[in-house]
Amino acid sequence: MMPIGPLMIEHRLIERMIDVMQGQLSVIEKEKKLDFEFLEMAVDFIRTYADRCHHGKEEDILFRELGIKQLKDEHRHTMEELVEEHRWARKMTARLVEANRKYIQGDGDAMSTVTECIRSLIQFYPKHIEKEDKHFFIPCMNYFTESEQQVILREEWEFDKNLIHEKYRSIIIMAEKELTSRTL
Ligand SMILES: [Fe+2]
Ligand SMILES: [Fe+2]
Repeated sequence: MMPIGPLMIEHRLIERMIDVMQGQLSVIEKEKKLDFEFLEMAVDFIRTYADRCHHGKEEDILFRELGIKQLKDEHRHTMEELVEEHRWARKMTARLVEANRKYIQGDGDAMSTVTECIRSLIQFYPKHIEKEDKHFFIPCMNYFTESEQQVILREEWEFDKNLIHEKYRSIIIMAEKELTSRTL
C-alpha cells in the first residue's frame, strides 16, 4: 500500500461524518434547538480523528517528508494551502465549541453561530479532500522511491498506534487538573 492509502481511506469516513452533519443541521434548523450529544460527538470526531489522527499524519509525516524534496512550485504551493486550510478548520472548530458553550449558558443568539460553523465545516471538508485526493496525493508519490514510501507508511501505522494512548493520557491530565482546581 502507498502511504496515501490510509489517508484516502480516512477521507471516506470524514465524508460520512460530513453527510451526518448535513442531516443533523437540517434537524437543528427544523427543531430550532441544538442536540448537545451530537455536537459533542461531532467535535470529538473532528478534533481527534479528522485533525489529530488524519491531519496529524498528513502534516507531521507526509508533508514533513515532502518538505525535504525539491517540489515543483505547483506542489509546494498546494501543500502550503493545505496546511493553511487545516489551520482554518481548527479555528472554525474552536469557534463552534465556544458558540455551543455560550448557547448552553443561555445565550440564544449563539445558536446561529453554531449552525454557521457547522455549515462552514460541511462546505470546507469535501473541497479540501478533493484537492488532496485528485490534485495532490497521487503526483506527490512520484517524489518517493518504493522503499521511502514503505518507511512513511510504517511511520503512519506507528502514529495511529500511539494515538489512543495520547488521547486518554490527555483526558486524565485534564481530569486531574479539574479535580485539583475543585479541591484547592
Ligand atoms: Fe488535509
Ligand atoms: Fe486529508
